[in-house]
Amino acid sequence: MKAEERIYCAIDTSDLKKAIELAQELKGVVGAIKLGKEFFTANGPAGVMQILEIGHRIFLDLKFHDIPNTVAGAVRATKELNCHMVTIHASGGSAMMKSAVEARGTAKSPLILAVTILTSLLDNDLVSLGQKLPIKDQVLRLGMLAFKAGVDGLVASPKEVSLLRASLGSDCLLVVPGIRPAWSSNDDQKRIMTPSNAIEAGADYLVIGRPITQSNDPKAAAERIAEEISIGHSSKYGN
Ligand code: C5P
Repeated sequence: MKAEERIYCAIDTSDLKKAIELAQELKGVVGAIKLGKEFFTANGPAGVMQILEIGHRIFLDLKFHDIPNTVAGAVRATKELNCHMVTIHASGGSAMMKSAVEARGTAKSPLILAVTILTSLLDNDLVSLGQKLPIKDQVLRLGMLAFKAGVDGLVASPKEVSLLRASLGSDCLLVVPGIRPAWSSNDDQKRIMTPSNAIEAGADYLVIGRPITQSNDPKAAAERIAEEISIGHSSKYGN
């Protein structure tokens, strides 16, 4: 896989014009555009179609979490949008995840990714929810449950990616946010990793937002990240 295909750029804005401009600039230099609740709530399926028509793969990050029947309906509705990936919450349970996978169908489009524990939560937050396992154990537990339910992959924090890769093997896609090149600001991300370290730890795809979108030259920033991934990769694997 080419290094740029591993970069999924998060465009977190409600401003459609801005999102279109960015997506046009990033055509051919990233593997997909991640659109989430902010963009979708403001611009709906029509907005997603406009980004799709520019020629991008779409990672629709709406993190569905509801009763199985409702999540199945939501996943069926995303099929109209020809998205590459959609997200659900693993904490919705095995039946909900199985319904999502079944509703997607055997054509494997879109790919279904499960979110385990949100990275905004700490051990104390889990305790206050009545959840006694340390975060990393709970992430592994939910990751295994999700993989058994048939999801194609997981969204994982940089902290957990090597543990999940070691436990779930190479068939489980791992999509990793919280990525910061050494030359960019951390913003509000606390548990960060550089692009090449995350790939080395076992990530398949990297979700990168502000280091690209807030740069003076988003295209150049994406290209620089791709180059760092290839150099990191070649220094380890000699190709
Ligand atoms: O700008 P930045 O690179 O921090 O954007 C990361 C993207 O990944 C955002 O869309 C954010 O919501 C998302 N994300 C995250 N941590 C998670 C899951 C998703 O930062 N655990």
